[in-house]
Amino acid sequence: MRRQSVLGGGAGWWWRGGGAVAWWGAVVLAHLVTPGRAGLLETNPGLAYNFYQTSCPSAEATVKSITWQMVAANPALAGRLLRLHFHDCFVQGCDASILLDTPASQNEKSAPPNGSVGGYEVIDAIKTKLEATCPGVVSCADIVALAARDAVSYQFQASLWQVETGRRDGSSSLASNAGALPSFSAGFAGLLASFAAQGLNVTDLVALSGAHTIGKASCSSVTPRLYAGNATSVDPLLDSTLAAVLINKCPNNASSSSATVDLDGNTPLKFDGVYYTNLINKRGLLASDAALMQNAAAAAIVNDLTNPIKFYAAFAMSMKKMGRVNVLTAKNGKGKIRAQCRAP
Ligand code: HEM
Repeated sequence: MRRQSVLGGGAGWWWRGGGAVAWWGAVVLAHLVTPGRAGLLETNPGLAYNFYQTSCPSAEATVKSITWQMVAANPALAGRLLRLHFHDCFVQGCDASILLDTPASQNEKSAPPNGSVGGYEVIDAIKTKLEATCPGVVSCADIVALAARDAVSYQFQASLWQVETGRRDGSSSLASNAGALPSFSAGFAGLLASFAAQGLNVTDLVALSGAHTIGKASCSSVTPRLYAGNATSVDPLLDSTLAAVLINKCPNNASSSSATVDLDGNTPLKFDGVYYTNLINKRGLLASDAALMQNAAAAAIVNDLTNPIKFYAAFAMSMKKMGRVNVLTAKNGKGKIRAQCRAP
């Protein structure tokens, strides 16, 4: 099956299943996933590429094949799995704490910012398969990180970024720690502070926000930009044409709050740089997206990342940094390999 490349411009083509990408797309992707390209990053905490090469050689192929199968059957999982990794890493590090079902009703996944997080069933399916093949070897935290990459890579049939592995899993999960996640209503300073608390900078904030080029948000995440009480009151930072569309999709009543809208209304399923063009045109969906244009340094980065090649490179680098946040590893002697991702 031939499809237009998502790498931009419509000039290239890739073939699903055949593994081929257009020549220039292949060059770009090969460049993006070259190890060691990333440059200045924090001291490595004990992660490595292909950590499971000897201990469980099929690990990464298993994650990819199950993720691709499940994303093919349900494309909405691409956004869910990408967000799952972010919500894992920002709350006590990339330790799979978001997956824990205990303590009941006080765990991270029950915290309000995680209410619409999903993709847990994909991680369960992968873990079940890997425990059958390589018992006690592959961490849930690594599965989350790899599945995020592979969920996005499905549409390219090639990886956009490399994932270091060797994370171990934590044993605790507390809803009260979820306050580390940035709020959709945060202004620029609040967003930057949330990222800085994880060792991430303004470039990471802008690059990683580009994840909002795919996926959906609940109307309840958008209505504060449309209404004040019973009255329509549109955020001046929101394009009026988009506001009219959103008012139609998210009427000012409680029954609409669980309806969803696309984060990138132009190319909602494509992992491309259109998110940044949207921001420039006041068409970012969330208040936190619009906030990126309220700071000169961030706005300059937004302009830069409208170029998809630059976006992919910046996203790859920042995902690598995010994937290192407070990791538990053999090197620091912390964490364990959980036998079940939902139980400590
Ligand atoms: C900069 C701060 C961020 C804020 C305030 C934020 C907030 C949100 C909110 C409110 C939603 C919609 C949830 C809902 O209404 O159901 C959302 C969705 C999403 N976020 Fe973010 N986010 C941020 C950064 C990130 C990052 C860093 C990533 C990944 C690297 C990410 C990936 C996603 C994805 C893929 C979705 C769509 C999920 C789906 O379709 O199920 N976000 N985000």
